[in-house]
Amino acid sequence: MEEKIYRDDDVDLSVLDGRTIAVIGYGIQGRAQAANARDSGCTVIVGTRPASAGSSRERAEKDGFEVLDYAEAVRRAEVLLIELADPVQPEVYASDIASNLRAGQTLCFCHGFNVLYGSIEPPDDVNTILFVPNAPGAFVREKYLEGEGVYGCVSVDHDATGNALEIALAVSKAVGSTRAGVVNLSFQHETEGDNFEEQILYGGVIHLIRTCFRTMVENGYPPSFAYAKSIRSLRSVIDVMDEHGIEDYLTGRSSRTCEFAVRTRGPRVINEEAVREIFRETEEGRFASEWMQEWKLGMPRIHRLRRTAAESLMEKTGNEWREQFGK
Ligand SMILES: NC(=O)c1ccc[n+]([C@@H]2O[C@H](COP(=O)([O-])OP(=O)(O)OC[C@H]3O[C@@H](n4cnc5c(N)ncnc54)[C@H](OP(=O)(O)O)[C@@H]3O)[C@@H](O)[C@H]2O)c1
Repeated sequence: MEEKIYRDDDVDLSVLDGRTIAVIGYGIQGRAQAANARDSGCTVIVGTRPASAGSSRERAEKDGFEVLDYAEAVRRAEVLLIELADPVQPEVYASDIASNLRAGQTLCFCHGFNVLYGSIEPPDDVNTILFVPNAPGAFVREKYLEGEGVYGCVSVDHDATGNALEIALAVSKAVGSTRAGVVNLSFQHETEGDNFEEQILYGGVIHLIRTCFRTMVENGYPPSFAYAKSIRSLRSVIDVMDEHGIEDYLTGRSSRTCEFAVRTRGPRVINEEAVREIFRETEEGRFASEWMQEWKLGMPRIHRLRRTAAESLMEKTGNEWREQFGK
């Protein structure tokens, strides 16, 4: 079946007329989505926890929003964009959101994790939907201001009002994503796809970069040269591959030596069985439960691994490299 792509003309923003949107959490995504929705003509308020220096509340007030505590913002709005960090969502949902919900409201998440794995179970009389722009918040805002948008996805987990999809699409239009195109996914695919990508792509690429650097240095290369080769050269080609296609890059924009290297050695570097195993672990919820356990324990593994990585030669070299050769 052909995938339906929703664009500006397919979506009616008027479903949000007379409704207040409360952006609950004003971090990387919340700030961008609040600004875009306000510039699209929506009534937007912001919910944060009480102020501390440099906090979300301070930023939202500086940006000219009416800012309320989470609970009051929930009471005041019809559509709630849940833009809290994922691990804190269950706690804030239990303490400030759940008891203030009323029938007919819409809970719009920006990642399906807590709903999919049952850490948040919204009541049957509210809509539970999802809208995710496929980019970090600053980019979502930048594109919007340029008159463009960021590809995104919407999903409906529970339709209490009969028009939950229309509301999800209207939110995506208000944030600017229907300018680029929006697709309808399941909560499961959005969540597991995101978790899978982070493990394989970010995990794999970062470890490959570090292994490339370490191997060159171990074999006598100057660290600054190894750094340039391991990361800066990759940065220069990634946009080209995305803009023109990988084959166009390989056949028309790279050297024949590079093309030969990629086609013959690349497959040796990747362990496809490990990739499939991680996919299975993700589908079975094993990644999610391991991560929730780590969060509950105060992230001991993350803290330990952070220390080792921060002290590595590659990080030190990178800091010096940027000073000497520019960002
Ligand atoms: N980062 C991205 O670009 C991106 C991309 C796609 C989807 N998403 C999704 O968007 C949602 C928001 O992510 P984000 O990266 O924007 O989050 P974030 O910047 O890490 O944090 C968002 C908010 O969470 C609040 N918060 C943190 N700890 C809290 C606590 N213990 N109690 C109460 N509030 C707390 C912060 O308030 P304070 O300032 O007061 O600490 C902040 O306003 C998530 O579902 C994420 O998966 C993010």
